[in-house]
Parts: sequence; C-alpha cells; structure tokens
Amino acid sequence: MSCIHDLDVDALRRQYALRNFVETGTHFGDSVQSALDCGFEHVYSCDLMEHVHDAACRRFAQNPRVSLHHADSIAFLREILPRLSGPTFFWLDAHFPDHYGYPCRPEHRFPLAEELRLIARHRPPTDVIACDDIRVVADPHNPAFTPGALERGGHAALVVPDVSIEMLAAPLAATHDWRVDLAGEGILLFEPRRA
Ligand SMILES: C[S@@+](CC[C@H](N)C(=O)[O-])C[C@H]1O[C@@H](n2cnc3c(N)ncnc32)[C@H](O)[C@@H]1O
Repeated sequence: MSCIHDLDVDALRRQYALRNFVETGTHFGDSVQSALDCGFEHVYSCDLMEHVHDAACRRFAQNPRVSLHHADSIAFLREILPRLSGPTFFWLDAHFPDHYGYPCRPEHRFPLAEELRLIARHRPPTDVIACDDIRVVADPHNPAFTPGALERGGHAALVVPDVSIEMLAAPLAATHDWRVDLAGEGILLFEPRRA
C-alpha cells in the first residue's frame, strides 16, 4: 500500500487547475494532510472502518476544508460526485478491508472498476484520477504485476485475478490518456486527453 508521495500531485494540481482532492480509503489521513499541504481547496475522503474514520475526524476536526465520510467507497462516490464543483484529483485507494482486520463483503474487496465507472458517468473530462496498488491486478498486460511476487511475499490473498487493466481503463479511455506508473506499488494514472 503506497502513498500519494509516489506521484507529483502538486505538479498535476497546477497543470490541470485541480480544486478538489477526493480519496477513497482515509486510513490515518496522511494523504488528506498531503492534499491540504498541496493547496487543494476541498478534501473529501471516506473509510468504512469506524475507528479509522473517527481518528481522522479528530485529526482534522478544526479544518473546514476537510469532509470525512464513514462509508464504503461506492456509497461515498454516489453521494459526492453529483455535487463536486470544479476539476478534481481522485486518489482511489480503498481495497482489502480484511487486510486491515475488517470483515470483508465481496463488493468491498476491490471496488476499483465500479469506482471508475461512476467517475466516468458523473464527471466532466477535466479530472485526474490515480488508482493505487495496481501491482495486485493479475493481468499479463499489467507492467506492475509480477507473477508469483505477492505469493512469495506472503500476500497471496491480495491477488486480484478477475480484473484486467483494459477493463479498468475502458470507462475513461475516450476522454483520458492513461498509463501504469511503476512508482510505489503501481499506479494507474488517467490525465485529461490533449486536444
Ligand atoms: C491503503 S489504506 C489507505 C491509505 C490512505 N489512502 C493514504 O494514502 O494514506 C486503505 C484504507 O481503505 C479502507 N477501505 C478498504 N476497503 C474499503 C472500501 N471498499 N470502502 C472504503 N474504505 C475501504 C481501509 O479501511 C483502509 O483504511
């Protein structure tokens, strides 16, 4: 599980005049803090673990630029996408609740494909979207995936066999250029397509 520092988010923010930072998977709130430090006007994040959410609420209690939601990523995106105003950076980092000791419903395990479909449906093509931990996508066309590596590291449970990079990219392929960045643990990055 890598962190937002694996990308030059500030350069992306300036290049695309991004105003909002939207994150799935708050955890300790370190990327929320990085987004504030970068200068995003509004920061939205969600986590389905109550104690994680409560700790983040305490950490950012005094900050009117931060909005934290105790929700799974799909419910959270359904709620906020229609009311976001202005170009937005998405950091999609919510997966494997069981890895964090939370009982896992199948639809919460790796919801990335549905998250990307929702973004494509609700947002204009001005946003930048970064998806973390792409090394788990067991697709021979995924440069961040090394067959056997997760198993050798004792993380066989993190392998996602039923998703491909093409499937993830499809909803945004008409509006965004995309690539798999090998920084950290692999990041699928979508940038608005140049005219
Ligand atoms: C890798 S950590 C997030 C790290 C954080 N984004 C950062 O950059 O500092 C993943 C978090 O996602 C949460 N999570 C896992 N599956 C989720 C889901 N389906 N919806 C919402 N949160 C989820 C976990 O509880 C955990 O706190």
